[in-house]
Amino acid sequence: MLKLSFLLCLLGVCVSQYLPDWDSLDSRPLPAWYDEAKVGIFMHWGVYSVPSIGSKGTEWFWKHWDDQVEDYVEFMEQNYPPDFTYQEFAPQFTAELYDPVQWAKVMNASGARYFVLTTKHHDGYSLWPSHHSWGWNSMDVGPKRDLVGELVTAVRNTTPHIHVGLYYSQFEWFNPLYLSDASHLFTTNEYVRTKSLPQMYELVNTYQPDIVWSDGEWDAPTWYWNSTEFIAWLFNESPVKDTVVVNDRWGILTKCRHGSFYTCQDRYNPGVLQEHKWENAMTIDKITWGYHRTTTLDGYYDPHYIISSLVTTVSCGGNLLLNIGPTHDGRIPPILEERVRQMGQWLEINGDAIYDSKPWNYQNDSVTPDVWYTERGGLVYASVLQWPEEEQQVTLGSVTPTVDTTVTMLGYQGLLQFQQLESGISVTFPSLSKVSSEWAWVLVLAGVTPTQR
Ligand SMILES: *[C@@H]1O[C@H](CO)[C@@H](O)[C@H](O)[C@H]1NC(C)=O
Ligand SMILES: *[C@@H]1O[C@H](CO)[C@@H](O)[C@H](O)[C@H]1NC(C)=O
Ligand SMILES: *[C@@H]1O[C@H](CO)[C@@H](O)[C@H](O)[C@H]1NC(C)=O
Repeated sequence: MLKLSFLLCLLGVCVSQYLPDWDSLDSRPLPAWYDEAKVGIFMHWGVYSVPSIGSKGTEWFWKHWDDQVEDYVEFMEQNYPPDFTYQEFAPQFTAELYDPVQWAKVMNASGARYFVLTTKHHDGYSLWPSHHSWGWNSMDVGPKRDLVGELVTAVRNTTPHIHVGLYYSQFEWFNPLYLSDASHLFTTNEYVRTKSLPQMYELVNTYQPDIVWSDGEWDAPTWYWNSTEFIAWLFNESPVKDTVVVNDRWGILTKCRHGSFYTCQDRYNPGVLQEHKWENAMTIDKITWGYHRTTTLDGYYDPHYIISSLVTTVSCGGNLLLNIGPTHDGRIPPILEERVRQMGQWLEINGDAIYDSKPWNYQNDSVTPDVWYTERGGLVYASVLQWPEEEQQVTLGSVTPTVDTTVTMLGYQGLLQFQQLESGISVTFPSLSKVSSEWAWVLVLAGVTPTQR
């Protein structure tokens, strides 16, 4: 650590300073809250929530329309005059029904311990009154409100245990300054100097987020974005230097390599233990991140899929960041609200297996598929994703009992019977009608050791 950072001493007080390079920045210990939190809600909201159509993602509306992708072009031809521009959607991004306190309550009911809101997506429109986005922000055009600030305030007042995270897209598809830098192969950095960096400093100083979730970095190198300089400021001097975490999207080849936690790719869920802290950013709508008006019921993941994703992710050391897309007028669609509330219902009963847990010696069982392990306070938790069909028996091959072993189930009163097998144990499940959990069932194993493989 000392080799990787330098000590700054002033008037006899020394503080550790991170250098603006990845070796130094990556040596910073992860603030504990992030690993303990496990569950977050992601929100993609912006001008694209107005057209809210598109088979390749609604949040990419402007780009796919510009690229002549068929359904985007057809939609515009059929519904708007020929000279209509993307910018003209902004006045329709009205948010008149936006109730940030209600959003905070929905997030809280989901069991999330943090949220991440898109403050600016690739279209460049900022959801706060940015001094660096004249005429293209939520105060100047559209809602005439500080959408970011209102949510931050509501969460801090209503559900203060939920951490604030802000998503920020580095690039903007059609920003002339960015396109000019790109045409100079990023040897100029006018856009970064006058736009992206000032906005990120503004966001952090104004809203003091505990997560800076960067995106849109992939076309340009880290040095172009001034990423390491920015993160060094974040870790050394910013108002959130002790609590903030950053993801891994900071320039070409940084994904899955650098940052407080890795996101690797959208919907990343590797199914095996990862060495570095990571996050599975996934959607409830199977395709798009922004609101999608034409999604049919089977276009949404069901609660079993979402809870299975949560369980497998956490067993392998990850956090789940579950995305919803609010509407142009500021509503969380009821189907999305229902899904996140279902996750919350499950967590209300089974949260001991998730929050503050650590991966165990084994992630999934060696014999029975769809059984995933975590550990917390000396107890081993086995989340069973399928209710056992055959005689209510579940074999846990990865678990060896001792004389002190007991087996219980979260959401069920009383001890469960188990039998020692040659290798592992067989647990007898209770009657389904006596169990309060749905979708997945958590066995609490006291006094067990991992089976030697
Ligand atoms: C937040 O969720 C917890 C647990 O479900 C609940 O007890 C509490 O009342 C909720 N708070 C608000 C403001 O909704
Ligand atoms: C951006 O990086 C360049 C060198 O890559 C450096 O000269 C400049 O000071 C940095 N700017 C900021 C604001 O960090
Ligand atoms: C455990 O998970 C791994 C990785 O997802 C998978 O390859 C393996 O088949 C699983 N084991 C069982 C018994 O399901």
